[in-house]
Amino acid sequence: MKKKYQYLLYSNTDNVTTITLNDPDKLNALNLDMQRELLSALRYVRDDENTRVIIITGAGKKAFCVGADISVFEGISAIKGYQLMRDPGYEIHRLMEIMEKPIIAAVNGYCLAGGLEVALACDFIIASEEAVLGVPEINIGIIPGWGGCVRLARALGARRAKEWVMTGKRFPATEAKDLGLINRTMPGNVLMSEARKLALDLTAKSPNALKMAKMVINLSLESSDTDAALAIERGAISILMGTEDCAEGVAAFLEKRPPNFKGS
Ligand code: COA
Repeated sequence: MKKKYQYLLYSNTDNVTTITLNDPDKLNALNLDMQRELLSALRYVRDDENTRVIIITGAGKKAFCVGADISVFEGISAIKGYQLMRDPGYEIHRLMEIMEKPIIAAVNGYCLAGGLEVALACDFIIASEEAVLGVPEINIGIIPGWGGCVRLARALGARRAKEWVMTGKRFPATEAKDLGLINRTMPGNVLMSEARKLALDLTAKSPNALKMAKMVINLSLESSDTDAALAIERGAISILMGTEDCAEGVAAFLEKRPPNFKGS
């Protein structure tokens, strides 16, 4: 199914939805309309029965996304800025993080500032070898505000996160991979086919197990209470043991055939 947006391309096949940030002349900078469309598309896929996995990428060869459209900040007040960071900014990133479906960022070029924050809110980041990542907000006198400081610190540790945020430097994708920030790099010409392959692999898993895995792993980073996190993990596996998908997975293994998970 196809949906129409001004600043996004949207396509869905085989239970995989691809959302493409689409303003390549501006390196897919997130203007306010694009942000609102992205939030609306994410809300749609969250509830869409034909979407099991989401891929987010950028149009054109040069950029995934270079962050917020900087012109939005011209003459802005603190109160307006705060509202803007929360809605749609916080809403977009938090929805991606808590959505019970895997999201893959396919990073095809510059992935800067809010663009990197979008990628950081995804469950997987794969990138072309030529991609460049960073959070240059410091160079215009601000800091990342859509979770970049927090998620980078969790992903890289405080020392590296401070280096990224406080220097505003750009880092090659290969270095980001070595730091564990992204899953894999590959030649740009196979990026989308690899993203799709990964997405299709995930569509073959039990959606119940995927949503529990995402929830428990995210929660483990957010909770400082180890016993509570471990109890939630045990609760999650117990619930999964009672699902038809688990019965199907076990039966398929014993019968030496591939499982057919229906999300039930
Ligand atoms: N917001 C608005 N417009 C942006 C933008 C942004 N974040 N980033 C790039 N653009 C626009 C440029 O103004 C330019 O528009 P124009 O052709 O109408 O002049 C177009 O996108 C192409 O960018 P350009 O700077 O000419 O490309 P480049 O190859 O020389 O440099 C970057 C690429 C990514 C290094 C550079 O565009 C850049 O530093 N962008 C800002 C990233 C940033 O600081 N984001 C923080 C947001 S808070």
